[in-house]
Amino acid sequence: KGKIAVLTSGGDAPGMNAAIRAVVRTGISKGYEVYGVRRGYNGILNREMDLLTFHDVSEKLQHGGTFLFTARSAEFREEEGKKKAAAICKELGIETLIVIGGDGSFTGAKNLSKYGVNVIGLPGTIDLDIAYTDYTIGFDTAVNTAMEAIDRLRETSNSHERCSVVEVMGRSAGYIALWCGIANGAEQILIPEKFDNNYDKLIEEIKNNRASGMTHQIIVNAEGIGHSYGLAKKIEEATGIETRATILGHLQRGGSPTARDRVYASVMGAYAIDCIEKGKKNRLIGYKEGHVYDVDIEEAFQMTKSIDDYEYEVAGILGTRCEYK
Ligand code: F6P
Repeated sequence: KGKIAVLTSGGDAPGMNAAIRAVVRTGISKGYEVYGVRRGYNGILNREMDLLTFHDVSEKLQHGGTFLFTARSAEFREEEGKKKAAAICKELGIETLIVIGGDGSFTGAKNLSKYGVNVIGLPGTIDLDIAYTDYTIGFDTAVNTAMEAIDRLRETSNSHERCSVVEVMGRSAGYIALWCGIANGAEQILIPEKFDNNYDKLIEEIKNNRASGMTHQIIVNAEGIGHSYGLAKKIEEATGIETRATILGHLQRGGSPTARDRVYASVMGAYAIDCIEKGKKNRLIGYKEGHVYDVDIEEAFQMTKSIDDYEYEVAGILGTRCEYK
C-alpha cells in the first residue's frame, strides 16, 4: 500500500514505545510497510532505518525510553538538512513520516512538509507544553515519578524540621511543578509562567508558615526558574531554617509508563495510521476534552496555551496557612 517511517525526536518520554508499537501494528494491519528510524531526524539523514515487523515491537509497551533512540539533530535544523532528508524520503519511497516528539521536533516536521513529505506528529514530551493538545505522552508518568520522590523528601524534611527546595523538570513550562505542587501539598510552587521573582515575599511566607507552627516546608521549583542550590542557601540565610535543595533531573524521564500514558500513546499511534488512511496530510494528533483528534500542523502552531489560573490558585490556597493571609 505504501511506506511509512516513524521516529522519536527530542527528549525521550515514557510511553513513546507504546506509540511506536501502535503505529507499527496498526500500520501493518492496514497493509503498510512501517520503517523504524533510529536516532531521530539524524536517522533519516544517515539512512538508519529498518522495516519493522509485528513481533519487532513486542515487549516494548511497558518500558520507558524509546527503543528507536532519540536525538536533537543539528544538521536537520539547517535548511540544507531538511532538503536532504526530504530527498532521501522520496528516494526510499517513504510517503509519510510519523514524528513522536515535542515542539522543537514539530517545528522540524512542519518545515520538512514544505519539501513534499507528508508528516504526522504525536506529542511526546514530559513537559506538557504543546499548545494544541491537553495531553502529551510521558507527562503523567513523569508527574507520578516526581510526586513519589517528593513524598520521600517530605518525610526526611519533616524528620529534620527542614525546608526542602525540590527542582522538577520543565525547561520553560511549569506543568510538572504545578501538578506536584497540588499532588504533594507543597507549601510553595515557583513556575516560570507566574513567579514574579519576589524572593523577599517568598522568604516572608516561609517565615510566617514556620511561625504558625509548620515544622517543615516543601518548595517545588520548576527547572525554568532553576538555581535551586542558590535559593536554598538564600532561604537558610534569611530564615535560619536548615534548607536543602534536591534536583530530581532526568530520573523523571525514565520508568515504566503509567496506564494513561500507555493507553493514550497507543490510541494516538493507531489514530495516526487512520489519518493516513483518510488521505490527511500534515496533521498533529492530540487530545482535546478527553478525545483524540487531529489538527493541521500550521494551525497548531498558531495556538497558545497557558497554565490554568484556577489550578494555580488552588495550589496557593492549599499550601499556605490561611491564618496568615
Ligand atoms: O523537554 C523535556 C525535558 O526533559 C525538559 O524538561 C528539560 O529541560 C530538557 O528536556 C532536558 O534536556 P536534556 O535531556 O537534553 O538535558
